[in-house]
Amino acid sequence: MSAPLFDPTGLDPRSATDEQRAEGPLARTPEGTWIVLRHEEAARVATDPETFSSAVSRFLQVPNGLDGAEHTAMRAATDPYFAPAEMAKLEPAVREIARDLVEELTADVGAEGTEVDAVSAIGAVFAVRAQTSWLGWSSELEGELLQWMVDNHVATRSGDLARTREVAERFDAIIGSVLAPRRAAGGDAPDDVTTRLMRQKVSVTSLADQVAGTRSGERGTAERELREEEIVSILRNWTGGDLGSIALCTGVLLTGLAQMPAVAERVRAGSYTEACAIVDELLRIDDPFVSNRRVATCPVTLAGQEISPGDRLAIHWTSANRDQRTFGDPDRFDPEGNASQNLVWGTGKHVCPGRPLATMELVVLLQELLAVADVAPAGTAGRRAVAPTGGWSHAPVLLTPRA
Ligand code: HEM
Repeated sequence: MSAPLFDPTGLDPRSATDEQRAEGPLARTPEGTWIVLRHEEAARVATDPETFSSAVSRFLQVPNGLDGAEHTAMRAATDPYFAPAEMAKLEPAVREIARDLVEELTADVGAEGTEVDAVSAIGAVFAVRAQTSWLGWSSELEGELLQWMVDNHVATRSGDLARTREVAERFDAIIGSVLAPRRAAGGDAPDDVTTRLMRQKVSVTSLADQVAGTRSGERGTAERELREEEIVSILRNWTGGDLGSIALCTGVLLTGLAQMPAVAERVRAGSYTEACAIVDELLRIDDPFVSNRRVATCPVTLAGQEISPGDRLAIHWTSANRDQRTFGDPDRFDPEGNASQNLVWGTGKHVCPGRPLATMELVVLLQELLAVADVAPAGTAGRRAVAPTGGWSHAPVLLTPRA
């Protein structure tokens, strides 16, 4: 049985897959990658890491490109950075950043309101400030990181490998500029998340480490510090990949709330928990974090299709989150009813560790904005993002100061 062809070039991933999903659970790109479109199969692939490996890149990606014990060890070392106590400690600083940004955006705005792009003017600026504050990076990096986000977006879209490499190297140089002074300062380095990560221990469980351990006569699990390339990879994950996601999420959330004033009122006046549920559901309906890759490790049948070892797959979260078989009408807003099936943060071993941070940042931003402004649809039309990103590339909303 052959799978339908999937070529999302130039298309909005949401509308493209709404049609494609009706044709079958799997589709195939011209290059042969299986696109997993439906909820049931997406959850199956994500929760079977032995059959569907995350080792898809020849570059080190910690932890997302790791499998098995090595992945477990890296998650055990890095998940505590997102623990509830860490988030509670960080929240006041994030709230202040959100408040300052909202003030910048709404100062001197009259009753007619002001039109702003929720992605570039709110989401991207907020993401850079919140993430640098969390990591303890200088606020002077703001301009460089914002420019990097724009260039990274253009490079990804171009498909030009040399350009993508240049942008990646530029980001590694930014990380290097953050690590070097801390290393030089030794014990006097600032006590922040980045310095802690540089001193982070990890339980040695990787095959290479085990072989090295056996050779040196050591047995069992040992602890070692993270290697330089592992630290760089983790920081790349925590910033490079994530800044864009927060910006796109902000576009989706504010566009959604502008169209649903009663829901905006619930975010404004309701509990933190209720606001989190609303954020999750708005992102389910229009998930801007489109897909993640896997590679099959053995022959397997998925939705009636024979998948061969080495075959590439992409779990299409945006599509799976709109599967009518699971959610009925995908646009029906039902935070409570849909929560248990929501795949915005993934599922299985690779489920997003940054969810508590991302959610806290997004909820705090919405709360601070809605406290002083009403959000309504703008006169200017928005622009949908096209594959490989989702959500809105330009999401104008009208902010009107509240009396
Ligand atoms: C802003 C919205 C975000 C969304 C929608 C999102 C979504 C996801 C999803 C769906 C996965 C699963 C990937 C897979 O199965 O291969 C994932 C993994 C991951 N996310 Fe997030 N994420 C977000 C923000 C963040 C933030 C703020 C951080 C950290 C600062 C973060 C760090 C990671 C890491 C390190 C992984 C890889 C985990 C692993 O492979 O074990 N994410 N994310």
